[in-house]
Amino acid sequence: MEKKIAVLNGDGIGPEVTAQSIKVLNAVAQQYGHIFHYKEALVGADAIDKTGTALPSETIDICLDSDAVLFGAVGHPKYDSDPSAKVRPEQALFGLRQALGLFANIRPVITYSGLQHLSPFKASHLEGVDIVIFRELTGGIYFGEKHTSDDGNKASDECVYTRPEIERIAHLAFKLAQGRKKKVTLLDKSNVLETSRLWRKVVQDIAAQYPDVTAEYMYVDNAAVQVILNPKQFDVILTENMFGDIISDEASVLNGSMGMLPSASVGNGTALFEPIHGTFPKAAGKDIANPIGSILSAALMLEYFGLKEEAQAIRDAIDWTLQHNFVTKDIDPMNFYFTSTIGDLVSEYVLGKIPGAVK
Ligand code: IPM
Ligand code: MN
Repeated sequence: MEKKIAVLNGDGIGPEVTAQSIKVLNAVAQQYGHIFHYKEALVGADAIDKTGTALPSETIDICLDSDAVLFGAVGHPKYDSDPSAKVRPEQALFGLRQALGLFANIRPVITYSGLQHLSPFKASHLEGVDIVIFRELTGGIYFGEKHTSDDGNKASDECVYTRPEIERIAHLAFKLAQGRKKKVTLLDKSNVLETSRLWRKVVQDIAAQYPDVTAEYMYVDNAAVQVILNPKQFDVILTENMFGDIISDEASVLNGSMGMLPSASVGNGTALFEPIHGTFPKAAGKDIANPIGSILSAALMLEYFGLKEEAQAIRDAIDWTLQHNFVTKDIDPMNFYFTSTIGDLVSEYVLGKIPGAVK
């Protein structure tokens, strides 16, 4: 198979974790006889420094011309402390999500037995947790009209949803649930918000088309508790943009580290794959960041290309590193390995260079 992959490293630890994914993708290409063409493009604070804008039009063109996008992270502390900054690295993400029509952000949350001894939760609490979060990504409060009054003392962010925006992601969630434990839980705040009431109504309509799937409805504040208290009750979670942003960060605690979680953003054309973590500025350039969120995102990319066996080989490799305590500093601060070492080990496993590795 031959594929074009746009590589958007971005800021902070983005470049170093993405480099490990490329290493692993190259191992997959070599082992399974595929050809991946990479094209790097500027994004985030890096792009602002070099071009004055967070998302140069050339970057959008490169993404549109690719089969998939591998994304690192964007953001820089100098913008966080300046609320009046007009140009911000995060604008690149919103621009890309819109330009590529990435309306569904899919975040799988599983737990690893190799990490359970380091978790604040009991092993029995974590065993068998397997959740997929569908976060709507191009609507809601993130994309509504924003306003700040001239005197700067009043601000508003509008939250808008339409029926088709809800229907298209709901279909994806119900279809995935059909091949899993057949349950979709919609998280909303329909006791308060009109947009949530629309979500509930539309999802009820869609649920009727999937009689084999159980639909459940839960207020998001309760869900914030349930995800920690009884995570095994969830199969597929479906929710709007901002609730999904928050609940997926929270759910990552189950897994051990935010650095472990991958995501796939899909829509009308080119899909984008990125770890859910941010730029982790304190770790940037030190070779200590956890590359697994990015490497698992690359595995999701391969699955999206239809390369199931290859994606599984990466997952097996990651299981193996965790079982043998080859972990980064976020997971075990006393006994850790470097970012690049994890990338090397996963690649070697995929290449069958580690005794006991498949093939
Ligand atoms: C994410 C991130 C972004 C978001 C930020 C960086 C704007 O937190 O992808 O989850 O809120 O969507
Ligand atoms: Mn987030």
